[in-house]
Amino acid sequence: MKLTNKDFLTLKDFSKDEILALIKFAKELKEKKKQGITGNHLQGKNIALIFEKPSTRTRCAFVVACNDEKAYPEYLGANDIQLGKKESIQDTARVLSRMFDGIEFRGFNQSDLETLAKYSDVPVWNGLTNEFHPTQILADMLTIYEHFNKLEGLNFAYIGDGRNNMANSLMIGCAKLGLNYINISPKELHPDNELINLCKSFANNSSIKISDNIEDIKGADIIYTDVWCSMGEEEKAKDRINILKPYQVNDELLLKTGKNTIIMHCLPAVKGNEITENVFENNADIIFNQAENRMHTIKAVMIATICNIDI
Ligand code: CP
Ligand code: NVA
Repeated sequence: MKLTNKDFLTLKDFSKDEILALIKFAKELKEKKKQGITGNHLQGKNIALIFEKPSTRTRCAFVVACNDEKAYPEYLGANDIQLGKKESIQDTARVLSRMFDGIEFRGFNQSDLETLAKYSDVPVWNGLTNEFHPTQILADMLTIYEHFNKLEGLNFAYIGDGRNNMANSLMIGCAKLGLNYINISPKELHPDNELINLCKSFANNSSIKISDNIEDIKGADIIYTDVWCSMGEEEKAKDRINILKPYQVNDELLLKTGKNTIIMHCLPAVKGNEITENVFENNADIIFNQAENRMHTIKAVMIATICNIDI
């Protein structure tokens, strides 16, 4: 399968087979790295890393993946370039794609990312927007596969802020890959209806459900949570704590699944809000494997979309 020159903006644009191929390729790259083998797929390539918002994992994953594959990464922070301020996104895209071989963008609006991709001649990758965080989903699905040795048919429960970038992207990922997805969140934080219907159209033999009842956690193989206030929403913190308190991932909630459930978190975590310290520490192996897998999966995305290779 070839993904050469394809942008990576949201998983909506990828088929089940394409997503699975990227995960399988990342798994191979991970196994090689564990044996001390790195590659030179990206030798001589230059990679632009645009960050309008801060990052630990995504930034480090791109930089380390570039170093492993012999590319040069250039970090372009919010105050380093003119993007969207003194210079339009269109012009920035046309300049960067004359110099770089791939562009990562982390920012606020998905529409800005789409503009960047439209005017760029080189692949553009979504490093997180307000709406979507697709590279995180590849890492999460690899982590789930490593734990359960399968993806299809697993019961996946997302609990917390039900309409943020993680909830949206996980719903798309589960629908495409055949996991049963339930989003448990207060009604005012339920996902957009259009996206729910789109995900239902993607799902073949799996279910997509939205609920505000924590009892619906019963049967979950995986519980996933994320911060109650995403980057850029800091002023909503007080309000969110009030409405989301009943949706905290704690020992009491875990008792309701009736299963040996694993807990996942994309990080960074606010312990005491969306997850208790105890539950976090009991699942640290899984959670930090997710973090590590960001690097292997981002490496797979860069190689697959820049190089003319079959994955
Ligand atoms: N999970 C994630 O994207 O982390 P960063 O914000 O640190 O990149
Ligand atoms: N929903 C979080 C995810 C961080 C990786 C945010 O956007 O801040």
